[in-house]
Amino acid sequence: MTVTASDSLQAEKLRADPRVLEAKRLLQEALAEHGAPLTEVRPPRESLLAGYEAMLKRLETSRGGKPIWPYLASGIGNGPWVELADGSVKLDMIGGIGVHGAGHSHPAILDAAVDAAIEDTLMQGNLQQHPPGMVLSERLLEWAVQPNSQQESAALDHCMLSTSGAMANENALKIALHHAAPADRVIAFENAFAGRSLAMAAITDRPNYRQGLPLALQVDYLPFLDPADPVGSQQRAVDELKRLLNRHPGRYGAFWAEPFAGEGGYYSGSHDFLMALCRPLKEAGVPIIFDEVQAFSRLSRPYAFQHYGLESMVDIVTVGKITQVCATLYGEAFKPKGPILSQTFTGASASIAAGLTMLDQLQQANCFGEDGANMQRHRYFAAALEGLAKKYPGKISGPFGEGMMIAFTPGDGQFETAKALLDTLYTEGLLGFICGAQPTRIRFLPPPAIATNEHIDQACQILDRVLAKGEAE
Ligand SMILES: Cc1ncc(COP(=O)(O)O)c(C=O)c1O
Repeated sequence: MTVTASDSLQAEKLRADPRVLEAKRLLQEALAEHGAPLTEVRPPRESLLAGYEAMLKRLETSRGGKPIWPYLASGIGNGPWVELADGSVKLDMIGGIGVHGAGHSHPAILDAAVDAAIEDTLMQGNLQQHPPGMVLSERLLEWAVQPNSQQESAALDHCMLSTSGAMANENALKIALHHAAPADRVIAFENAFAGRSLAMAAITDRPNYRQGLPLALQVDYLPFLDPADPVGSQQRAVDELKRLLNRHPGRYGAFWAEPFAGEGGYYSGSHDFLMALCRPLKEAGVPIIFDEVQAFSRLSRPYAFQHYGLESMVDIVTVGKITQVCATLYGEAFKPKGPILSQTFTGASASIAAGLTMLDQLQQANCFGEDGANMQRHRYFAAALEGLAKKYPGKISGPFGEGMMIAFTPGDGQFETAKALLDTLYTEGLLGFICGAQPTRIRFLPPPAIATNEHIDQACQILDRVLAKGEAE
């Protein structure tokens, strides 16, 4: 990416140096050659198992507890295939919970990371920035203000990068509360997940995630859309919202919502449902924050608020995960009047470069549009899961979710049932993850920029095999 104005700069000369170009070519060649054999699931190698077990023990000691999975990467992959340090190869349909949107060892991501590695610093920050961070912010804003078919576009003018979804949400909440001061309460959805900071733990609707923590915020909850009763659940949510707005007039500083509920269990919002809530919130002057840390770029349009036609309602939106570096976008009317936003790091130079490349890859893969790759792949995956639900009645139900976020409910939907199936899938080489509580589901976040129907077939074949084995036992 050329971002500097002049080729007389030493940095431009470095980037164009034939030795650098040749080194990049050689790296690509070596990566392609060594990644090429990784095209199917493989079991661990006996000879590596003892060393791997020892590393897992060390990991458990240093992090203060067992990791969720016995996963330690070897450092190479090939698309959705990833090699672990025990020699096994897994089919990755979770991608670090939605982060690895172009799979593993993607050549364009390598290229971006090498460009970043020859920059003068590894980290970028608010005090000393480089042009790619500016370009990434501009690109996220450009995508955010694309008009819908009614020619409505979101009033989003500014973008602040940060290193985690929780921090992007903290910034969003600070912008909203500052705007609505002295309002001090927040409205969120039941089952919400907002991240792991103290304020986000207060919004997140999981009592065990805030065990022993003081409540940093007063949060009131609305029921989410119930697909079995869309009209009734919408009415109940609107009634509850009006009751809250009347009970605490002028006290709400933010409505914080995931338009598509991720960690909560893969429940879709809808235009009608979300508009019915946003209208009274707007009238009451409550800033509307959409958290798209998980959903960004996985639906029919880049932003979930665009997918649900909420351009006229969004005040602040947060993105993360697949963008490699996180961001808070907000309108001019919400620009803080004091220095309430800053961090040492905006992101690693490599994350920023990879984030920009990821956006290019998503666009090149035609992910967006009603009939874009995200929606087409979803239909294909959903049909396959539906087939399995018919083949194994009572063993799995669903599918649930939209676009490149898809889930099913194993058996009775108890956490233990889902966890046991997840662990078996892991052993058999398929990586997914759980979401939701009552029921607990298993979800997949396929890499949108590279996922194919063949990858989906391979994932469903593993699931089929595991379910068949369960039947036989
Ligand atoms: C919707 C949503 N918001 C916020 C977060 C927190 O992001 P991070 O873990 O990067 O802090 C997550 C992470 O799973 C998320 O799914």
